[in-house]
Amino acid sequence: MARASDPNISSTQVTEWSLVYQGFDPAAEGLREALCTLGNGYVATRGAGAEVTADGTHYPGTYVGGCYNRLETEMAGRVVGNEDLVNVPNWLVLTFRIDGGGWFSFAQVDVLSYRQELNLATGVLVRSVRFRDAEGRETALEARRLVHMGAPHLAAHETTITALNWAGRLDLRTALDGRVVNTGVERYRALAHQHLVPLEVEVREDRMFLRVQTSQSRVELAMACRTRVFTGGQIATPDRRGTAEPGLVAQDITVEAVQDVPVTVEKVVSLFTSRDRAISECGLEATKAVQRAGSFDELMQGHARAWEHLWRRFDIALETERDDGNPGSELGILRLHVFHLLQTVSPHIRDLDVGVPARGLHGEAYRGHVFWDELFIFPLLNLRMPEITRALLMYRYRRLPEARRAAEQAGYHGAMFPWQSGSNGREETQQLHLNPRSGRWIADRSHRQRHVNSAIAYNVWQYYQVTVDFEFLSFFGAELLLEIARFWSSISIYNPELGRYEIRGVMGPDEYHDGYPDTDEPGLNNNAYTNLMAVWVLCRALDVLELLPEDRSAELRARLGLSPEEIARWVEISHKMHLVFTDGVLQQFEGYDRLDELDWDRYREQYADIHRLDRILEAEGDSANRYKLSKQADVLMLFYLFSTEELQELFERLGYPFDPATIPKTIDYYMSRTSHGSTLSRIVDAWVLSRSFRSGSWELFSEALESDVADIQGGTTAEGIHLGAMAGTVDIVQRCYTGIETRGDVLRLNPWLPERLRCVRLRVTYRGQAIQLEITHEHVTVTALPSGAGSITLAIGDETFELQPGQTRITPLAAKT
Ligand code: BGC
Repeated sequence: MARASDPNISSTQVTEWSLVYQGFDPAAEGLREALCTLGNGYVATRGAGAEVTADGTHYPGTYVGGCYNRLETEMAGRVVGNEDLVNVPNWLVLTFRIDGGGWFSFAQVDVLSYRQELNLATGVLVRSVRFRDAEGRETALEARRLVHMGAPHLAAHETTITALNWAGRLDLRTALDGRVVNTGVERYRALAHQHLVPLEVEVREDRMFLRVQTSQSRVELAMACRTRVFTGGQIATPDRRGTAEPGLVAQDITVEAVQDVPVTVEKVVSLFTSRDRAISECGLEATKAVQRAGSFDELMQGHARAWEHLWRRFDIALETERDDGNPGSELGILRLHVFHLLQTVSPHIRDLDVGVPARGLHGEAYRGHVFWDELFIFPLLNLRMPEITRALLMYRYRRLPEARRAAEQAGYHGAMFPWQSGSNGREETQQLHLNPRSGRWIADRSHRQRHVNSAIAYNVWQYYQVTVDFEFLSFFGAELLLEIARFWSSISIYNPELGRYEIRGVMGPDEYHDGYPDTDEPGLNNNAYTNLMAVWVLCRALDVLELLPEDRSAELRARLGLSPEEIARWVEISHKMHLVFTDGVLQQFEGYDRLDELDWDRYREQYADIHRLDRILEAEGDSANRYKLSKQADVLMLFYLFSTEELQELFERLGYPFDPATIPKTIDYYMSRTSHGSTLSRIVDAWVLSRSFRSGSWELFSEALESDVADIQGGTTAEGIHLGAMAGTVDIVQRCYTGIETRGDVLRLNPWLPERLRCVRLRVTYRGQAIQLEITHEHVTVTALPSGAGSITLAIGDETFELQPGQTRITPLAAKT
């Protein structure tokens, strides 16, 4: 039978408040499923149809924040362990067949029309399909779905089937499927992937119940569900037959379909786990929640209201202009990014023990692990809903004991956080990874990215700067900062020949370099980003000791056993860390200048996609370690995180000359040698160009916007969104183009809008005060919304002033060239 998947009619459209797909396109299904994921921070479900199973085209995964499980696999002659974010039971299942024929499958029908719309304002996914089967019967299918943003344990979908030119028997099958496994990422499939053990199933009247447990972490998950059927809008009492087998509970329902009379199936599901708060037993809670849940429409109301409230705090509005003078699609994509961020880390995580999975709760790439990507995410949250950041920082705080142990085992002091973190803060970076190009399993040394520790310290400090949450700083943040400072102090080794301290055997953010060429010794020496960040952390740790009330500072010193000698050593290192320069350019690491230049033209000619040059080179029997090239911004991270004044201060402290004129030279040097193998890379580059090369910055920003909607890395988004890049793009508009800085008790604004960006409107919260901002090329309008919070200090250009709640101030801007 002909498939109506004519790629010519398949299209993607991003409007101001929606993502719309037209046409059924099997090749694009994985991507669409990831981008149509619905979630609420507690749980998320990919946007796969309710009628599909994991089959190579579709992958209907559901993930619960923080629900991990470990398995072992024998691989390349050794046993490797992996911790995965578990694909939990599939609650979606709802399929149908007509007159006893085969169960519905897109492969067996002619699709007459297909439209899928993700509404970003209300968080509802709608799918409208018309198809004709082999017998010539035409049917319309309309499905709506939500994962409740107000009641995080509830999700629902509603499917309406209308016989357009026939009448007859319609069998419906609804199920909760706990036999699912983690096979969403092809290159991990050789690894063990069966995480769930069935415990209990039950089916009665219009209810079903399923309980499973993860095999190693022993997290219990309970799902309860109610399936109701309506014909012509009236509740029906159809014939139902239940099936219950280990891990699967299903119900077959039969109705007589009448031409043009819609048959609506409403499925309401609740999910609880043994990790939840305020519960007795998760099965009991799930059953109770579904009993109390209203209809789909009632659920919709509370759900849409929760989204409306979130958008009030998180919306961003902008006016952009394309070459042809028409508005661009940036606004819709930015909203899509905010939408997915909030579906991963919503206000519901405030009380949960979860971190930020780099690929969202949208797929299984990187196994749901937590990296340093929060560095790109927290600034957005800090200025909108800092209580989310606080909860996520607590994820780190709770794992301090494990990080201390890791430092100790490696021969250091303080806390050494893992590069990849999951359930309990153990290092989860895989020991081996597969190069799909060569088929070889290769030792993975990326855990040497100790710079993740500085990211955690930086995040603590930034959160404090925006919120002045002194309690957090006193009781949690300070301890994180001090223990990380202590780690940097103990890993720094004095080199008497240089008269400086060095950090050896680490990796910077650029994952293409994990060692020197022609040696088996892992790691690099004196990575500039690592060393300078270590200095910054030591300085902030010294600040924090001063900032805390004397008794709290003394308590912490006593508890951590911080001696005056150790603190003196911090001061010393912060003045004498080693950095390597060649011709005024800060070297990515010592010895970088001795590496070969890559013949970029040859690789661009030979390979259609050179994002992952490491894989290409390894497959050629070569190694990225030999060349001056970067997967992503490394040295340039410094210009991303710090203003010129801050860098100047750091360099002066170290006694290195700092000439701002070397900044553009350094930017040029590294940008021309970067393949953007990580979606984080363009964020940094767009940011660092924003002041010197506005149109170049806008171009990179526009490419970064496309990372996921256009899946620019060719297939990676289907395995999970890139949350750092999503939040990072929003933050470029929020903080970079507006020039927002939160430093020294002042909210600074120094706008520098790219030409294409005519106007930005956003609302931020600074020190408890909500502020409405409108920025154009000509002026900045700031309104402090009425509130009981005190006044705030603002600096716009050279002017510094106090703004009281309820006040508006318009400041003209000098023309920028
Ligand atoms: C990047 C890392 C990033 C990770 C998770 C990798 O490709 O190199 O910097 O943390 O992806 O997003």
